[in-house]
Amino acid sequence: MGSLPLYRLLTLLFLLSAASDVHGSNICTSQGVTACQQCLAVHPSCAWCSQEEFGKGGSSTSRCDLKENLLKGGCSQAALEFPTSSVTTQRDDPLSNKASGTGGDVTQIKPQKLHMVLRPGDAQRFTVSVRQVADYPVDLYYLMDLSFSMKDDLARLVTLGNDLAKAMGRTTSNLRMGFGAFVDKTASPFMVTYPPESVVNPCDTISEVCQAQFGFKHVLSLTETVARFTEEVEKQQVSRNRDAPEGGFDAVLQAVVCKERIGWRPDASHLLVFTTDAKTHIALDGRIAGIVQPNDGLCHLDSDNVYNKTTVLDYPSLGLINEKISDNNINLIFAVTKYVEPLYKETNLTDCFSAALLSQEYSNLIAGTTVGTLSDDSGNVIQLIEQAYAKIRSEVELEQVDVPEELDLSFNATCLNGEVIKGLKSCSGLKIGDTVSFSVEAQLRGCPKEKSRTFSIKPRGFKDSLDITVEFACGCNCEASAVVDSPLCSDGNGTRECGVCQCHQGRLGPHCECSVEDYSPSDDANCIPKPGSPICNGRGDCLCGQCSCHASEFGQVWGKYCECDDFNCLRFKGALCSGHGKCSCGICQCDAGWKGENCNCSTRIDTCTSSIGLLCTGRGNCECGVCQCTQPGAYGETCEKCPTCPDSCTIKKTPPTLQQLLNRLKLDSLSSHDFLPSVFHDTNAVNCSYKDVDDCVVHFQYYEDDSGKSILFVVKEPECPEGPDILVVLLAVAGAILLLGLAGLLIWKLLVTIHDRREFAKFEEERAKAKWDTANNPLYKQATSTFKNVAYRGN
Ligand SMILES: *[C@@H]1O[C@H](CO)[C@@H](O)[C@H](O)[C@H]1NC(C)=O
Ligand SMILES: *[C@@H]1O[C@H](CO)[C@@H](O)[C@H](O)[C@H]1NC(C)=O
Ligand SMILES: *[C@@H]1O[C@H](CO)[C@@H](O)[C@H](O)[C@H]1NC(C)=O
Ligand SMILES: *[C@@H]1O[C@H](CO)[C@@H](O)[C@H](O)[C@H]1NC(C)=O
Ligand SMILES: *[C@@H]1O[C@H](CO)[C@@H](O)[C@H](O)[C@H]1NC(C)=O
Ligand SMILES: *[C@@H]1O[C@H](CO)[C@@H](O)[C@H](O)[C@H]1NC(C)=O
Repeated sequence: MGSLPLYRLLTLLFLLSAASDVHGSNICTSQGVTACQQCLAVHPSCAWCSQEEFGKGGSSTSRCDLKENLLKGGCSQAALEFPTSSVTTQRDDPLSNKASGTGGDVTQIKPQKLHMVLRPGDAQRFTVSVRQVADYPVDLYYLMDLSFSMKDDLARLVTLGNDLAKAMGRTTSNLRMGFGAFVDKTASPFMVTYPPESVVNPCDTISEVCQAQFGFKHVLSLTETVARFTEEVEKQQVSRNRDAPEGGFDAVLQAVVCKERIGWRPDASHLLVFTTDAKTHIALDGRIAGIVQPNDGLCHLDSDNVYNKTTVLDYPSLGLINEKISDNNINLIFAVTKYVEPLYKETNLTDCFSAALLSQEYSNLIAGTTVGTLSDDSGNVIQLIEQAYAKIRSEVELEQVDVPEELDLSFNATCLNGEVIKGLKSCSGLKIGDTVSFSVEAQLRGCPKEKSRTFSIKPRGFKDSLDITVEFACGCNCEASAVVDSPLCSDGNGTRECGVCQCHQGRLGPHCECSVEDYSPSDDANCIPKPGSPICNGRGDCLCGQCSCHASEFGQVWGKYCECDDFNCLRFKGALCSGHGKCSCGICQCDAGWKGENCNCSTRIDTCTSSIGLLCTGRGNCECGVCQCTQPGAYGETCEKCPTCPDSCTIKKTPPTLQQLLNRLKLDSLSSHDFLPSVFHDTNAVNCSYKDVDDCVVHFQYYEDDSGKSILFVVKEPECPEGPDILVVLLAVAGAILLLGLAGLLIWKLLVTIHDRREFAKFEEERAKAKWDTANNPLYKQATSTFKNVAYRGN
């Protein structure tokens, strides 16, 4: 089978989440798969049963199902095809601290070897740690443009050899240096060919002496003797070509691939310093000189260490350079003059895409390169190399080599401060000796043709790599014992494989019993449930007079006329049969402990039983395992809370007799010896009071002891109402009236006395003021009375 398309996989995953908890229909059974390989590709949780006598009983048993369902269905463990994904570490040497003194055995990545088994659709995760060890050996190859304009640079380089070695010696005690030079392809129009003397001395026309033009010349293999570097550079002479761009990329490629000639050590950092002050020819530029053969990416140095295919092969493409640089762990450093720097420099990531399209910013196009600006006479080249090397050593970027197309790798980086950076596979700003780690997830999207494949992950520019062998768990073991032309498949009309028949061309049916040629339209009548309905209810094809139901995305379709399915049942909260039953032909068949149309009703009552052993504390009904409280104000899982209820044990308006209460509490009698008001049980005890038919209030406590036995004991003597004493009441009332009357009389008497005293005092005062004479006796009244006539006017 081919690789599973991603969108299909996503659909499956989505369906799984919706359906995985439902019996009968799940991701594995719902796909209608008919072969083991197909089954394994559906989802990592699917297993296949290859047992011959499996699923004879039920109509809807599928050989492709969740593992536990197959085992439950009677499949033996041995007949189960259920490969699981795994990852095992095969080599896990510790990271080295320092390169020197380790005998050359330096480990900068951990682990070094992994074995992975992956099922399609499944993912595995592992962690890779990387450390830049201190004092790592360095190979530095100086590749110099010897076109005429570099004359002063060459003169300067002669003086710089020692200083360069000294500067690099600060970071490594193990440095080797080499030298190579390039000009351009020795063919017109790149070369000056006229006058003919120019071929030997191209500077003839400008009255100077320089060496004949060449493509690439390897001068000095990598050596520890720095003096040799200076010596060889001194011998060099500039040359001259015609056009402005040079053939530098030819030289880069040769310097990269001619490993033995250049002398790159496997256990060293490889710095290839490329100096130029001009543009560079790229692939297809060779056409102007009639050179059309593409670069083959191989080493073509002749016995004189000269690139002798310069006029045969075109310039290499950037892709080819990229590939070779990565294969050979080369760090390319562009040391270019300011004038051409924009051409080589790195641009910001954001506009990298457009930049790469619009111009040739080589550093963006060749991974793992650094760019520095060379002063006019290369005076700053040491500083530049030092900086570039520091930059190279401060960065770790993982690259993937030979990763199979079907495998998706995703990375999370944990750089310096322990912070996880999502989706990043590089760290920068590191110091030598820092360890960084990457979490890698490998996901298999489909099934490649081969059974296993080895690929590697390595930090760019490092020789160290993590080699991962991944085994694609796509096939089934049972395929090995397939029987071709098996008698079980209608006398040899198919191959019996993994418990099912794979029919030959032109044969159909589970046992290949039907031939396409034998088909007659009259067979269709058997597939029509009732006149006028579509064949197989429109959900299947009529094959040889039998309905072969279509697989549905949602589940299986079955029945004689495909009238049944296992996905059209009542749902509750999105789950088929509430997740507590099996959907069978439209009807939920509830699991034990569940009932109801959609199996959402639990038959449990223990969840309704309160701590005192009463169902819903006697204040409600247990429905589907949940208390529905009927007493106003009652709430809680078992209606145990009820602040407004008269008391915690009053159950009905008409009080039950004590015996009824005892029955309800499943007790035989009150333990009468417990009439002790002082004994209280603390935590689980419930204080109850209960009014019996005689209106006596019984107070008791109820609790369960450690063994779960219910204990009920009365804490006080029952409080019964007593008749009121009428005489006492009458006496009290009479007494009260008498008292009030006496008090009233006393107050009246007091008030009258006070008033009289005041009147008498007033009289005494008046009498004291009076002057008694006869003419003026206050008691005397004249015998005559005088009246004024108001109408009389005196006349
Ligand atoms: C280039 O050099 C190689 C090795 O010395 C030699 O075999 C080959 O013939 C040379 N090719 C050309 C075109 O000179
Ligand atoms: C790159 O980005 C930085 C900061 O965003 C900016 O200062 C700089 O000029 C940019 N360089 C280029 C070449 O666009
Ligand atoms: C990376 O991190 C994200 C979010 O934290 C997580 O979802 C993802 O699985 C991680 N990937 C790896 C390869 O660890
Ligand atoms: C296929 O089956 C038919 C009858 O079921 C039988 O006659 C025929 O021989 C079988 N074909 C092969 C190739 O065995
Ligand atoms: C069960 O499902 C029915 C119908 O959807 C619903 O009315 C009822 O409340 C559900 N019962 C429970 C206990 O969830
Ligand atoms: C029951 O009553 C006693 C005494 O009246 C008291 O100490 C105890 O805390 C009460 N228990 C509960 C659960 O209310």
